[in-house]
Amino acid sequence: MSNTANLDVVPQAQGFAAAVRGLDLRAPLAAGIERALLDAWTRYPVLYFPEQVLTPALLEQVSGYFGPFGHDPYVQPKAGFEHVIEVRRDAHETAPIFGGSWHSDWSFQATPPSATLLYGEVVPPRGGDTVFADACRAFEALSPTMQQLLLPLNAVHSAAPAYGPKGLFSRDDASRSMQIIVSPEADKTELHPLVRRHPLSGRCALYINHVYTIGIEGMRGNESQALLDFLFKHLVRHEFIYRHHWQPRTLLLWDNRCVIHYADGGYEGHSRLMFRTTVAGERPQAARAV
Ligand code: SIN
Repeated sequence: MSNTANLDVVPQAQGFAAAVRGLDLRAPLAAGIERALLDAWTRYPVLYFPEQVLTPALLEQVSGYFGPFGHDPYVQPKAGFEHVIEVRRDAHETAPIFGGSWHSDWSFQATPPSATLLYGEVVPPRGGDTVFADACRAFEALSPTMQQLLLPLNAVHSAAPAYGPKGLFSRDDASRSMQIIVSPEADKTELHPLVRRHPLSGRCALYINHVYTIGIEGMRGNESQALLDFLFKHLVRHEFIYRHHWQPRTLLLWDNRCVIHYADGGYEGHSRLMFRTTVAGERPQAARAV
C-alpha cells in the first residue's frame, strides 16, 4: 500500500486553512506526494486530514515528513513514545485548559517548533474547537507606517506565565489529568524579532502571542504593554480567524511560524484526548525590510 494519487486540497473560506483528502497517512508517501504536501502546507499553514486512523507510532511517522522532532518541555510524554504528548481533559476536570489562550507553541524556545501535529483520538460531541489566527495577514493589514515601526523590534518571550512557579499551571489541581511540569527554568526569557520572515513562503508574520510574549526589548513596561495590547487585539480580528471544529480521527497540522492558536472549551461533561507531536524549527529570522 502506498500513496501515489493526486492530493485533493480544499481551501477554507479564510484562505489560510485547507482540508486534504485522498491520502491514507498510514501508508508511506511517494516522493512526489510528499513534495506536494509540503507545497500545500506552505500555501495553507493550517491543514487538516479527515478520516485517518493513526496510532501514536503512526503519528510519529507522519510527523517525520515535516522534519525532525521538536523538544517538548513541561509536559510528560506519553509512556513509550518520547515525542508524543497527550493533550487530555477528562469529563469532570476543572483545571485550566491546556493551550486555552492564544499562543504559538513553545515560542519561548531559542528555536521554536515549525509545526505541530494534533490527532483527535477522543473528540467531544460539542465544543473543544482549535481556533487559529493568520499572523501574516494580520501583519499585511497594518499600515506601512506601523509596519516600519514594528520591523526593527524584538519581543521578549517566556514560559513563566504558564509553567513558572507563579504561572497558570503552578496551582495544585487534583482534577488535572495531564502531567504538567512546573519549573523555575520557565522564568528564563528569549528574544525574537517581533516580525519574522517565513523561511519557505517569504511572507512576514507578527511573531507575538498573548501567553508567552511578555514585553518588547528596550521599552518600558507600560509602553510595551500598550503596543502589545493593540497588536494582540488586531491579530485576532475575526477576518483573520479559522475555527477548526473536530471530527474524530482527524489529523490537524499547523505552522507555528505564521499562525497563533488556542484550544476552546465548551465540552464540560465530556472527555477530549489528542495525541500531539512537534517538528523542530529554526531560529526566527527578522523581516527588517518589506
Ligand atoms: C495546543 O495548544 O497544542 C492544544 C490545542 C488543542 O488542544 O486544541
